[in-house]
Amino acid sequence: MEEERQIEELKERLKNCKNIVVFTGAGISKESGIPTFRDSDGLWRNFKIEELATPEAFEEDPVRVWSWYLWRKEKIAECKPNSCHLLISKWEKEFENLWVVTQNIDNLHRRAGNNNVLELHGNIFYTRCINCFDVKEDHSLSYPKLPPKCQCGGILRPHIVWFGEALDPNILNKAIEFSQKADFFISIGTSTVVYPAASLPFIAIQAGAYVVEVNPEKTSLSKNAVLSLRMKATEFASFFLI
Ligand code: APR
Repeated sequence: MEEERQIEELKERLKNCKNIVVFTGAGISKESGIPTFRDSDGLWRNFKIEELATPEAFEEDPVRVWSWYLWRKEKIAECKPNSCHLLISKWEKEFENLWVVTQNIDNLHRRAGNNNVLELHGNIFYTRCINCFDVKEDHSLSYPKLPPKCQCGGILRPHIVWFGEALDPNILNKAIEFSQKADFFISIGTSTVVYPAASLPFIAIQAGAYVVEVNPEKTSLSKNAVLSLRMKATEFASFFLI
């Protein structure tokens, strides 16, 4: 089987790697029950970005935005890390220097046991005050009144990067640095269309890393990666978690 040969090649290569980046998108969490954004059943097929995921939308109607994020938070809180999240957690213990660089806000990599996690787009279980910028972990699934308020009296917002907003430069610069230093870079479950995150696999290619993609569909990365595996995240994990 071609796939098995490719996986054996990948395993051989991985054995000698030290600096590993695991870059993930919504697809890795789909089999945990969390919808992606752009698949046929994706969130952006049913909801409007301009009404829910921009700073302007929050300014215009913070109650609508909060209601949607609380709905997502409740769904995400019911989900569990799947075998692919668990594989990556196992890898973090096995390899010298492994970092997870994720676009996901679902906290599933941390729940799977990864400590080295860069959350490029924030985390749905944190809030940020738009007045004092205080960031707090918050697992509330409802509030007495929306929008919730900070102790300083300011309005709280989900600690998420919305469209049109810049990523945290400390997190982005670290992700770029790790991608430049990586000898093994694997991209799992992302359509590779949202920048600057989508530039990371290409930065790794430029720097000479062994770049692998896992996605049931082709993306702009597929023809540039050393190996592009047309499979689901848990299918990929099944080759390792025997
Ligand atoms: N296993 C692996 N990949 C999968 C699976 C699966 N079971 N199911 C779907 N996929 C793939 C799809 O083929 C698609 O390429 O996951 C990808 C999901 O793509 P998107 O929905 O575009 O999600 P993502 O790439 O994470 O989006 C990037 O866009 O909406 C913003 O901020 C949001 O972080 C998000 C960013």
